[in-house]
Amino acid sequence: MLTKVLNKVKKTLNPSKIVKDEYIDWLSFANAGMLEKGNIYCIDYVMKNLKSDSPFLEIGSFCGLSTNIIYYYAEKHGRNNKFFCADKWVFEGSEKSFLGDTKIKSKDYSSFVKESFKRNIAFFSPNSKIHPIEQFSDDFFELWNKKAEVKDIFENTVNLGGPISFAFIDGNHTYEFTKRDFENTDKHLEKGGFILFDDTFDGSIHECVKNMKEIEDNNKYKLVMKNPNYLFQKVSE
Ligand SMILES: C[S@@+](CC[C@H](N)C(=O)[O-])C[C@H]1O[C@@H](n2cnc3c(N)ncnc32)[C@H](O)[C@@H]1O
Repeated sequence: MLTKVLNKVKKTLNPSKIVKDEYIDWLSFANAGMLEKGNIYCIDYVMKNLKSDSPFLEIGSFCGLSTNIIYYYAEKHGRNNKFFCADKWVFEGSEKSFLGDTKIKSKDYSSFVKESFKRNIAFFSPNSKIHPIEQFSDDFFELWNKKAEVKDIFENTVNLGGPISFAFIDGNHTYEFTKRDFENTDKHLEKGGFILFDDTFDGSIHECVKNMKEIEDNNKYKLVMKNPNYLFQKVSE
């Protein structure tokens, strides 16, 4: 209780930096998703400061809101990097057959969200270099390590592997999954590259908050900002 109150006070005294952008307003009206507005400032910062053409990676895309936002700021700052996404559109809680008390099947909901993702990317980021790979992050990294040739969900054949310049981590938020997502990303993240972790703000109910403390103690990484989610830059190999 006291922690909750203290976090509220902290947030009031130290509000997130917010970017005002008319396009993002229109995008977020139409593209379902879970947007922490402070992430936009972080993504804009990354795209302004990144010096590499290596691919971006997003873990956890849902309906594509963050994907479209990353793509928009990349374009705005003249970046032409390839952009890989890993999501299998299998949600926590979907082991239940139906959505709540309805007759809507969980598996139909997954298909609906995946189709929404495809439609949102095709409309808001057309002709882009976005390659969504239908895999859980662990399996995605296995394919990445093997430099596998795979088909993305738009039926484009792409080669995985190599260095990564920016990762947005928004998949499974448990400690163990976040740890593996970080370690797997770290293997490929270039010096100077960035990682943004969603839902890691101080006081978040998600276990991934614990991972942030560990990465803060990792001397290969520098905390760039908490806005309120954690953005790190890799400063040494
Ligand atoms: C919080 S939502 C992502 C929200 C999205 N980034 C946005 O801006 O709206 C989490 C997503 O992560 C996906 N996910 C869960 N576990 C995953 C895993 N192990 N690997 C990849 N994606 C995962 C889910 O299918 C879901 O689409």
